[in-house]
Amino acid sequence: MRTLRDPAEMQSWALEQRRVGHSIGLVPTMGFLHDGHLSLVKKARASADLVCVSIFVNPTQFGPNEDFSTYPRDWERDEALCRQAGVDLIFAPAPEAVYAADASVSVVEKRLATRLCGASRPGHFEGVCTVVAKLFNLTQPTFAVFGEKDAQQLRIIRRMVRDLNIPVEIVSGPIVRESDGLAMSSRNARLRSDERGQAVCLRRALDTVESAFARGERSADALRSAALAEIARAPLARVDYVDLVDDVTLEPVSRIEAPVLCALAVHFPSARLIDNAVLKG
Ligand code: PAJ
Repeated sequence: MRTLRDPAEMQSWALEQRRVGHSIGLVPTMGFLHDGHLSLVKKARASADLVCVSIFVNPTQFGPNEDFSTYPRDWERDEALCRQAGVDLIFAPAPEAVYAADASVSVVEKRLATRLCGASRPGHFEGVCTVVAKLFNLTQPTFAVFGEKDAQQLRIIRRMVRDLNIPVEIVSGPIVRESDGLAMSSRNARLRSDERGQAVCLRRALDTVESAFARGERSADALRSAALAEIARAPLARVDYVDLVDDVTLEPVSRIEAPVLCALAVHFPSARLIDNAVLKG
């Protein structure tokens, strides 16, 4: 397994591999890897000649009052996990190598990115789209794997690839959870034990929504109220949003007819957590 830090070297390696006919599967990450990330690596490993994992805590997707400087990092552990998972190459550039000091071009998705996390994290998806477009240019993937954990991100990246004709196939992988149902996330490491105990309220809220939906409830308001009531049982949780939106447009719905994404974001004192489920009508 190789590690490259220099973007120019990364790009020439990738161009050469593609020239000789190898396929490249990219798994973009911000590191502090867990089984959710590794499930995506496994998916890439199953069909790519060469698997590249990028590890880059991208400064441009963090807001001024967000956790860029305290985002968890553990290079040695990440490297060992990648080696065990059969990764061929880690791309781990420094921020200064990725962004020119006077960089003035970015990628903006104008519709999906205004909803859900986009409403509470202005500029977040501009940072995500821009870095993912750069990672695609630098690593020249045949396909890239993203997790359904970040449902909005996945939909925005698909839209970016469609609207900018980027020749990369977008593959997705299901949400990997802890045994109590909490969706794995690098940020879970920051939860204190009382917060960690209550963090299962996100999954419980989704369970409540899914079972009410299975019993025939089709009103978005009723489903949303059921989710909010479940989260209210966790005293340390403060709801950012609980929304039922069209699975494609991410626009709010009042009745569940076509597939609907039920997405939630909840603040705990030490971390903001997200989770989601798709309701198929
Ligand atoms: P990060 O949060 O590190 O996540 C990297 C990838 O792992 C994303 O595609 C995310 O959806 C997926 N992932 C995270 N937790 C998961 C889980 N529990 N189950 C399945 N997949 C999971 O998302 C980012 O980084 C960044 O925004 C990035 C795309 C790398 C751009 O900077």
